[in-house]
Amino acid sequence: MITAKAPGKLYIAGEYAVVTPGYPAVLVAVNRFITVSIEPTVNEGTIVSKQYSHIPLKWQRINGMLVVEKRDNPFHYILEAIKIVEEYAKELNRPLQVFNVFVESELDSEQGAKYGLGSSAAVTIATIRALMQLYEIDQEDYTVYKLAVLAHLKLGSNGSFGDLAASVMTGWCLYQSFDRLWVYNQSKKVSLSQLIQLKWPSLLIKKLTPLSDYNLVVGWTQKPASTFDLVNKVKKKTDEKVFWKFLRDSKDCVDTLVVGFQMNDGHLVSEMIQKNRQLLKDLDPMIETPALSTLIEIASDFGVAKTSGAGGGDCGIALVHKQMDDSELIDLWNNHGIEKLEIEVYDKTYQERKTKQ
Ligand code: PMV
Ligand code: MG
Repeated sequence: MITAKAPGKLYIAGEYAVVTPGYPAVLVAVNRFITVSIEPTVNEGTIVSKQYSHIPLKWQRINGMLVVEKRDNPFHYILEAIKIVEEYAKELNRPLQVFNVFVESELDSEQGAKYGLGSSAAVTIATIRALMQLYEIDQEDYTVYKLAVLAHLKLGSNGSFGDLAASVMTGWCLYQSFDRLWVYNQSKKVSLSQLIQLKWPSLLIKKLTPLSDYNLVVGWTQKPASTFDLVNKVKKKTDEKVFWKFLRDSKDCVDTLVVGFQMNDGHLVSEMIQKNRQLLKDLDPMIETPALSTLIEIASDFGVAKTSGAGGGDCGIALVHKQMDDSELIDLWNNHGIEKLEIEVYDKTYQERKTKQ
């Protein structure tokens, strides 16, 4: 049996701005995974997952047509991931196979609760990696990322694809999205293998060295949020001039945050996390819900905190000095309906080094 796993992610800073090509964000991969296993078979394949068994297939009537909502459904991400790798495998002259796919997710709770840890990205990356193994294709990081992006574009994603970058690269990452129009135009002109080999304008994925003296603490509001809806709403509501100013301020903030990482300067990083919190609050009050404000204000006595990702629910992150005892923070969060998630940053390079020793 072939097996591949991919981690979930969390945004640290730069949200919303990162959807525009050339504007940076910082993300981390977390040690909760989606594992995809593949078993070759004959004639008929299946896709099976215990965690996805309760998921309904949603559809709407639009202009008299039955339209399936694909973005909420992990099976569609799996199918698009399979299709894109097979298109690539065909170009590489690999004979296509029939197989069963088994998916095991630590990013969706058994009760179907959504944490907002990037499960659609992780299931896409894990499926792509498993299929690349099956078809004996080299899993170069940028190739995996680009195949995943092309799968997500087919499903009409309006995001930055930072979740895919973090799940591929792991650890702490600086990310900038690519010029979508350029990729779209190229995809009409060149083969898939050529498109993957080309340098995509504005795309940047760079590993950052973590701060040596700080821990990342993650709180979950227990309320799910839809990134897709929030990104659309915020864009529609915001005046263009205000948005451009937000983009510039966010870029300055993330650039300085990155300097903080390069200098291992926890104070500077903390200051920029606070600044980014304020920029997002000012961009739209929908982002920081009352539950997220409570999470952040409680954590402020222990370190700095902000919303993570699109906000509207899901998670908040806090950066806490290693010498600080955070057990009181966890109790206070608990009393206010915030659950501390037992997760840590996951870095595959570090992990590989550790297992080799
Ligand atoms: O809510 P999340 O963790 O999926 O993060 C969304 C971050 C946005 O910048 C708002 C959108 C995106 O895709 O980058
Ligand atoms: Mg979210």
